[in-house]
Amino acid sequence: MQDITIRRPDDWHLHLRDGDMLKGVIGDTSRHFARAIVMPNLVPPVVTTADAKAYRERILAALPQGHSFEPLMTLYLTETTDPDDVQRGFESGLIRAVKLYPAGATTNSQSGVRNFENAMPVLERMAEIGMTLCMHGEVTASDVDIFDREAVFIETVLDPLRARVPELRITMEHVTTSDAVEYVKASTKNLAASITTHHLIINRNAILVGGVRPHYYCLPVAKREKHRLALRAAAISGDGRFFLGTDSAPHVDAAKECGCGCAGIYTSINTISCLAHVFEQENALDRLEAFTSLNGPAWYGLPANEARVTLRKHAEPLVFPAKIETGAGPVTVFDPMFPLHWDVVGSIA
Ligand code: NCD
Ligand code: ZN
Repeated sequence: MQDITIRRPDDWHLHLRDGDMLKGVIGDTSRHFARAIVMPNLVPPVVTTADAKAYRERILAALPQGHSFEPLMTLYLTETTDPDDVQRGFESGLIRAVKLYPAGATTNSQSGVRNFENAMPVLERMAEIGMTLCMHGEVTASDVDIFDREAVFIETVLDPLRARVPELRITMEHVTTSDAVEYVKASTKNLAASITTHHLIINRNAILVGGVRPHYYCLPVAKREKHRLALRAAAISGDGRFFLGTDSAPHVDAAKECGCGCAGIYTSINTISCLAHVFEQENALDRLEAFTSLNGPAWYGLPANEARVTLRKHAEPLVFPAKIETGAGPVTVFDPMFPLHWDVVGSIA
């Protein structure tokens, strides 16, 4: 048996959904995480401060008894978002960030931004007040190969935007390429990136070899092995610009196992176990805390959590359920394809 103690983790990119699905998944996050940046891509999306306030209340109402968890709310940027509403939400402390989805880039992004010019007033206001923009960094043009969409986004959207509004703080979310890692490392200010658990573990073979495996399909889609290795190197580096955003994105099995399956991988329940495994493999357990618990709050201007959790390595592998049951239907749990030996002491999965 081996123990390590770290500050309680936070998740800087999470989908909690709503209604029965929210009730079914929230406990898997609140068991291990103190806070999470909650994505606003509901149907309809969380667009105004009033929407976010109501959603936050639904999240808190769904928390299991005895759990304490702080949802950090985001607004879904549309071409008609009101800069004053964004500013009021931010200054009241309710809204932590604005989320930009290029229209059509991913699940529930049809209300996203088509013409960036229309989003400029909000982005300029955010730069003035020091508010962070969370970006889904993929172009959507049909002639761009899906595996190139992140790299092309950096070149054609992100870099020009940063040149135009240098004071805008940007989180490149769920980066999947060495191009993104290099771009973030080359920046001198106002840029950081979240990395998911699953992109540290799978490459695109997981989705396609031996049959189509919908439970490994997410967006941005996993890339080839050299990119996974670049993400691992960034995550374990201790570099403050890289931190955990699980992008745990539950969909019921029926919505994934069909002719046109949804993008999203559900990892909340075993993310910490998977990460301890990855960091141990990389001889970097001493830098796990930076990735899960220190770099994210520093970037978002929040204190690190005071509470500590102990992670324990067991001789026998843990047993996680293959699926969780929610009131909305079963949701398949991410299978890292290796046995997991680490768990969080005192928490039963
Ligand atoms: C997310 C979802 O299901 O909402 N899916 C995903 O594959 N990550 C949307 C997103 O973050 O792109
Ligand atoms: Zn996401």
